Parts: sequence; structure tokens; C-alpha cells
Amino acid sequence: MKVPYVDLGSQWLSIRDRALPKISEVLESGMYLEHPMIEALEERIANRLGVKYTTTVNSGTDALIFSLVALGVTRGDEVITVPNSYIASVAAIEHIGAITVFIDVGPDHLINTDLIEEVITPRTKAIMPVHLEGKMANMVAINQIAKKHGLLIIEDAAQAFGSKFLDYQPGNLSDVACFSFHPLKNLNAAGDGGLVATNNYELIQKVNTMKNHGQVSRNISHNFGFVSRLDSIQAVILNIKLDDLESVIAQRKLFAKSYDEFMHKLNIQNPIVQSEVFHTYHLYVIELDYRDEVQKLLSNVGVETRVHYPTLIMNQIAYTAKNPKKIWHTPEAAKQSKKILSLPIHQNLREDQIEYVCENLANIYNIKRQII
Ligand SMILES: Cc1ncc(COP(=O)(O)O)c(C=O)c1O
Repeated sequence: MKVPYVDLGSQWLSIRDRALPKISEVLESGMYLEHPMIEALEERIANRLGVKYTTTVNSGTDALIFSLVALGVTRGDEVITVPNSYIASVAAIEHIGAITVFIDVGPDHLINTDLIEEVITPRTKAIMPVHLEGKMANMVAINQIAKKHGLLIIEDAAQAFGSKFLDYQPGNLSDVACFSFHPLKNLNAAGDGGLVATNNYELIQKVNTMKNHGQVSRNISHNFGFVSRLDSIQAVILNIKLDDLESVIAQRKLFAKSYDEFMHKLNIQNPIVQSEVFHTYHLYVIELDYRDEVQKLLSNVGVETRVHYPTLIMNQIAYTAKNPKKIWHTPEAAKQSKKILSLPIHQNLREDQIEYVCENLANIYNIKRQII
């Protein structure tokens, strides 16, 4: 049996009959970059998140960069974040000349809020929590700390569309939340895409001009900008995917439950989820010894897995080449990076494939444990 880590072809088939007429409508309209579908999507998402404003951009990375700039984070400012994210979180900070301050994560793989205050200095300008795997960080605690110290909060919610902490969604307890619609995300385009969500009118105005050549109106630019617009065809696809999101999350949660029961029996560390968190299972991440060997053996029996992420960002050459003298101490993140393994959990799997993953994991893991 094959268990693919992703299956975007099947996802397309599930929306094809609804999408094709609308894509054709967009193509016939000629409004490839400004179809009303885009605004409709932005409005729907704002309503869903409970924020006043959203604007689409070309990627989650652009959402982060534009938000940092629009909030006035600049060269020399310190931004506190985690090292176990995708490289884009830190790329956004480093691109604008700000200084990344790494702190450790908790057993749930999310920012350890107890450590934030220890690293605040007069140069600290912002906190960037990353809602990894579909789990939201403790935004209540982060919001309190930010208020106490007068700091901005930029949420990297690239992996957390639909996720909650208590009843709060990304964007509710921060200055801004940034989402990605990359094909691998739960709410995904057929290409790149991203979104900025905020209650700050000035911020959204700035991002709106920044993403479109700095234009405040046709042919008038007060600042040089960029080109980072979501195109109309992606908006069609995302509007349809948004209709289906509840069932996608429900299916992922069902598979997670099956995995959880199995991991418990096997004594493997399944995802740790704080009780306040509504986990949307963008990823299902377990922790186990002999991770690399187990991954290889799973691959031999047709089970595709991934590691999110094997290299902490402070160890990436992109970072060390720029910051050769900086040494960071994040032992929990370091330990986890050697043990984490993401099992396939997308909505197009079948229950018998989940069982197949579990059975093979049991065989491989038990054999490994006996040998060593
Ligand atoms: C945590 C995190 N931050 C930022 C990004 C960047 O998003 P994008 O790939 O849309 O630029 C991603 C996605 O890939 C991500 O997973």
C-alpha cells in the first residue's frame, strides 16, 4: 500500500466541478488581478476570523514582511521568536534588518511564554509567536506580556487557519496575524498566496499600497512598493476551499484521534495540545527515538513522512553566515528537532491507510526498540 504525505490531485478532483465554471468566468472577464472574488474572499475571511480588515498578498512570507514594515519594525529592532519554525518567519525579520531573538519552545513545540520576559531589552520591539502544526500559542499570555512592555505582536499563523486558543483566533489578540495559502496548508491555493488580518486600519492601508507598487491611486505612488497580489483564479479556488474547510478540519481531527489512540498503545509521544487549544492538524507530529531510521523504514513500505523541521533556523547557513558570532541556547527545540516526525494526515486519506501507517510504525518501532 502507498500512503502519500500529500495528495493535491485528489483535492482538485473534489472541487473541480465547482471550480471550473468559476475559473472560466474569471478568464472570460479579463479581471485576472482584480476580480470581485478577491474582495469577497477577504471579506469572508475577516468575518470568520472576527477582525475588521484583511488583505490578500502573494505569500505568507510577504504577509509577514509587509506587516513588520507597516508596523514600523525597522533596522536594529529586536523581534522575539522561536527557532523551530519554517525559515520564512525569521527571513521576514532578517530581511528588514531587524534582529531575531530566539527563545525556546515548550513540550507542545510552541513558544515558551515563561521565557519571553527574560529576553526583553530596551531594543525589543515585537514578539512573533508561530502557531506551528495547527496549534495556537498561548495568545492570552503573550498579549499580557506585550501590553505590559509596550511591544507589538505579529502572529505567524501560516499553519493555523481555523485554529483557536480559547475562543480567540489569530488576529484577535495581536496587532496582526499572517496566513499562508501555500498548497500544503489546510486552506490552500493552487500556487502561492497569503493574507494579512488585523483590526488596525492604518496597517491595512499600508499593506494595500505596499503590495501594489506603493500606489495610493492609479499612477500615484508616495513610496516605492512591491508586487504581491493574490490573483483572481487563486481567489476562486480559495473561496471554494473555504466552503469545505470545516469538513477538512473534521476529517483531519478524526484521523488524529485514530493516531492518538495508537500512539498511546505504542508509548510514542503523540502531539501535546494544551486544553485551551483547538488543533486543526495541519501536521500530526510525533516524537520518537531512532527517528531517521524509522522514517527510512516507513518509506520502504510506502509510507511518506516529513520532518518539520530538521534544522533549527539559528543553524541554517542563511542565519549563521550573517550572524557568525551569535550563540543561542534552546535545548528543548534542539532535542525535539532530532525526534519529530510528521505522519500523513491529509483529508484524502482513508482509515485503512491510517491503520497501515500505525501497523508498520508498530512493527518497525518495536523491532528497533528490541535491537537497541
Ligand atoms: C510557519 C510558517 N511561516 C511562514 C510561512 C511562509 O508562507 P509562504 O510559503 O506562503 O510564504 C510558512 C509556510 O510555508 C510557514 O509554515
